Amino acid sequence: MFCTSNEDKIKCGVSTMKFFQEGLKNLNTVGTVTRSSSFLCKKIVKMSELSSAKCIVELGAGDGVMTRHILAKMPADCKLFCFEINEKFCITLRSIQDPRLIVVEDSAERLKDYIEQYGFEQIDVIFSALPFVVLPEEISKSIVQNCYDYLKPLGQFLQVHYSLIQKSLYLRTFGNVDVKFQLLNLPPAFILSCVKIIS
Ligand SMILES: C[S@@+](CC[C@H](N)C(=O)[O-])C[C@H]1O[C@@H](n2cnc3c(N)ncnc32)[C@H](O)[C@@H]1O
Repeated sequence: MFCTSNEDKIKCGVSTMKFFQEGLKNLNTVGTVTRSSSFLCKKIVKMSELSSAKCIVELGAGDGVMTRHILAKMPADCKLFCFEINEKFCITLRSIQDPRLIVVEDSAERLKDYIEQYGFEQIDVIFSALPFVVLPEEISKSIVQNCYDYLKPLGQFLQVHYSLIQKSLYLRTFGNVDVKFQLLNLPPAFILSCVKIIS
């Protein structure tokens, strides 16, 4: 659903309200009460190279607002693993009818277990909107390190944040971070993008 027709706009309004309620109830794990805007989703997907991808991962997929944009751009023979710990969001994610989508109702910490279970050794691109700012530091470090370990050489890690407080976490792990800004989001957001460079 891309909120183009009037009917879609009403559905998007309802989804925004539902996300607000869920975010308010679980602020310590959701980290926000607003889901990503379509401007932010389009921008992050545009920054990614998906044309020859076989395995894509989305961490903290929420109600699937970004998921739909990723699915629209990814190849037919590619799988998208969406990790989400919130039960209600997972129900919404599972309502997306697409055989390429694998909804994982588990923590991003278990990334490796699930991709290996499906026969993948490497990931082409990782999108993340995990609220690292509110997660315990050790868990954040371990998730980002796992992302680095399982990305293919030159694979991309793209992270959404509302501030640059966590920038050093990615810089330490990947050795590089490119920052883009999207004003048209509530609140305005940064996209931090890293590439796995093997020397
Ligand atoms: C800021 S919201 C992003 C939602 C959506 N991707 C968006 O862009 O609007 C962060 C999401 O991460 C999920 N989350 C938090 N900790 C997680 C974890 N350890 N593993 C997987 N998902 C997690 C939350 O439940 C929440 O849905």
